[in-house]
Parts: sequence; C-alpha cells; structure tokens
Amino acid sequence: MNIAVLASGNGTNFEAIVKAAKRGYIRANIKLLITDKKDAYARTRAKKLGVQDIFINPKDFYSRLEFDKSISSLLKREKINLVVLAGFMRILSPYFVRTFKNRILNIHPALLPAFRGERAIERAFGGGCKATGVTVHFVDESVDHGPIVLQEAIIIKEGETLKELEAKVHKLEHELYPLAIKLYVENRLKIKGRRVAIGC
Ligand code: GAR
Repeated sequence: MNIAVLASGNGTNFEAIVKAAKRGYIRANIKLLITDKKDAYARTRAKKLGVQDIFINPKDFYSRLEFDKSISSLLKREKINLVVLAGFMRILSPYFVRTFKNRILNIHPALLPAFRGERAIERAFGGGCKATGVTVHFVDESVDHGPIVLQEAIIIKEGETLKELEAKVHKLEHELYPLAIKLYVENRLKIKGRRVAIGC
C-alpha cells in the first residue's frame, strides 16, 4: 500500500509516521510528502528521512479546485491508496474528498467536534477546559469533520502551561496517528455511517 502525507508546517507527525513505517509498525510505503509551503520544515525532515518531497505552489493555480485537481492527478499517477493529512492547513474541495472517499485521514489536536479549525490547543487552554485531546478521523466535506477512528483525552492539570499542554498533545498525536494508519493498512477499519468499527 502506498501512502502520501500532506503537510504545511513542522512535520512532526509526518516524521512519526515515516519512522513507524521504517520499523515495520505500519506495513506500507510512505511514498511521498506533498507540501503547499515552500519553507515547510516537513520538507527538511523528508530529505533526512529519504522520502520524496513535492512542493505544489497554490499561487500557480487560479482556484482551489484546480490546485486540488493537480494534487489528485499526482496522487493517482503515484498510485497512492491512502492520503494522510498531517497539519495540512488548506480546506480540501468536495472534488478532492469525493475522489479519495474514505481514503483520507486527518489528525486534529482536540476532542472533535470541539475546537474545529486552527489553534485548537490554544483555544481549549484559553477557554479554561479541564480536558482536551487528540482525534484521528476520516475526512468528509466539512473542515475537521468525518467518522472518528481514534480519540483520546488529555487532562489539563492545574498550573500547567500552554507549552506543557502542547507537548503532551503532540506526544499523543505521535502515538495515535501511526496506530490509526496501521489499522487502516491492516483493513481493520469499517465505516458505518458516522461510526468507525475497529476489527481484530
Ligand atoms: C498537529 O498538531 C495537527 O493536529 C494539527 O496541526 C499540527 C501539525 O503539526 N492539525 C490541525 O490543526 C488540523 N486542523 P506537525 O506539522 O508537527 O505534524
């Protein structure tokens, strides 16, 4: 199975996924990284990890749809079976989501459906929440939305700083995302409406 990771920033999740594949935890080929930001640090990680990295400049396209069509034909050319969004900060068009229906995963640093969108950790922290968490889900046509694969809560302790909370969230992300991808690759995820059943 071939996997493509789409990322816009730091790429810590991308790295965790590649390392999980290298040690045989995920039995799939992390074939390429696609970024929409020329200076995304994820690209540096890809070079170090030996993963093909492709930058596609959104400014070269006159619409979101054209941009998505270009990524989609690239993914088809590369025979990609699963698309993994790891901090890809662009809204995907319905065209793209339909083309890869039930074959796109996303990770979000909150307990969805709470705190969809950007700066989710900061907003949960700033809102005085006692708990937040991490969600991995299949992607549908809404932002940070779709059948939930894995979700785990994190307690926000009294006196904890935002930085400390962020570190806890990212550590959990680096465990949950490889696990969710492993389950997908092993064909153990069955989508039933809004729910995802995990088989053995
Ligand atoms: C992660 O925390 C991920 O959950 C978040 O972007 C970060 C990317 O970090 N995604 C979203 O907020 C999606 N709405 P990374 O580049 O170090 O993997």
